[in-house]
Amino acid sequence: GAPVEADVAKLGAGELMTVEWRGKPVWILHRTPGMIERLKANDPLLSDPRSERPQQPEYATNPLRSRKPEYLVAVGLCTHLGCVPTFRPEVAPSDLGPAWPGGFYCPCHGSRFDLAGRVFKNVPAPTNLEIPPYRYLGESALLIG
Ligand code: FES
Repeated sequence: GAPVEADVAKLGAGELMTVEWRGKPVWILHRTPGMIERLKANDPLLSDPRSERPQQPEYATNPLRSRKPEYLVAVGLCTHLGCVPTFRPEVAPSDLGPAWPGGFYCPCHGSRFDLAGRVFKNVPAPTNLEIPPYRYLGESALLIG
């Protein structure tokens, strides 16, 4: 599949956009400073907080799993059986568990991921969301693939 370009200039803070790459949805999330701050507190709840499992590109092995802190780029498919998780950024006690810190929730079997695509403990998904190959072509232009 050919690489695809995306422009994040109009993507507001807190918003998510989806582009298609190799038939897969790729999410780009513009994280707010508050979202970035909250990600730091998730480590004890996660199964691989530093993305040490080997399938990740080297720029995804930091806690935010991204080249730039404010933009998450991730394949939007659950690593369990491939459903598309829903974007649930709100912070609230909810049906997703007490003190849900915001993230992605898979409706198929209940896997939960944070806003860095890191998987929580005790869910069916075995790994963090996949980070595709990508790079920045300029301030707001991205090349995925
Ligand atoms: Fe997402 Fe099973 S496919 S939890």
